[in-house]
Amino acid sequence: MVFLGESYRKPVNDDITSMHTLRDIPGLRYTLREQRRQGQRIALVPTMGNLHAGHLALVKSARKHADVVVASLFVNPMQFGPGEDLDGYPRTFEADQAQLIEAGCDILFAPTVSELYPNGLDAQTRVHVPVVGEGLCGGSRPGHFDGVSTVVSMLFNLVQPDMACFGEKDYQQLAVIRKLVSDLHLPIEIIGVPIVRAEDGLALSSRNGYLSREERAKAPALYRTLRELRDAISRGEPIEQALHQGQAALYDAGFTPDYLELRDTTLGAVNDSTRDAVLLAAAHLGPARLIDNLSVQLPSAARSASH
Ligand code: PAF
Repeated sequence: MVFLGESYRKPVNDDITSMHTLRDIPGLRYTLREQRRQGQRIALVPTMGNLHAGHLALVKSARKHADVVVASLFVNPMQFGPGEDLDGYPRTFEADQAQLIEAGCDILFAPTVSELYPNGLDAQTRVHVPVVGEGLCGGSRPGHFDGVSTVVSMLFNLVQPDMACFGEKDYQQLAVIRKLVSDLHLPIEIIGVPIVRAEDGLALSSRNGYLSREERAKAPALYRTLRELRDAISRGEPIEQALHQGQAALYDAGFTPDYLELRDTTLGAVNDSTRDAVLLAAAHLGPARLIDNLSVQLPSAARSASH
């Protein structure tokens, strides 16, 4: 049984006009129980903070679909591998709070690590989504999607939202979450929100902040390469050859590519009957590992690409 401290017995305003920031599970549960009792539809926007216009687009989309918008802010240690940027990941709590209020968020859930993982990471039950989480980012970042799936499952369980919004920039993450929700029969609608780009085409990402001025000037080459590849493939250029040229273009622009692949929209292999496909790229530029993706319509003569 969950103990609710005295402060959580206070009725929450019927009409939320400013954002509540909650750091603990009992407070979150109590507040949302009130909202649910009033028949409100609840949307969840999970984030790791350091918010930019891409995150705010998630909040705005949630706002359109739901009565109550809950954002979570938690830099999830379980989804970072050894040597990754967990310690350096930007923590900008006050600025994030201000942006969430401005975007129309009602409740911010910002737990500590010990609130979500009271027994430590090693003792923690984990959620593994097979197949769709393997390869691509799952191949380069072993355990990453187990960390994502575990924390998102927890957030789904704690918030019990009617819907949740995720960015399409993290294409594989979105596919993993859709599979998790389907396999576990969770009654949650997953809403994919289009990528938000800077004027020069670079997909917005918290990790863009790691780039020096020179690297930032080179960074749009990732999206440019994807667009050139898309055009070449839709013109009927052989896929393997186009991908090879794309890799070379990334090296020429100063990137070290991690992967550049064409998959069908469920992340399965492309075959002769595939028409809707997606180009997915991850590449290192200085200290940042950037990811991006772009939809491609395949011409009928397109040949399958191995990956
Ligand atoms: O996309 C992110 O920021 C994170 O992977 C998420 C979904 C908030 C889980 O920690």
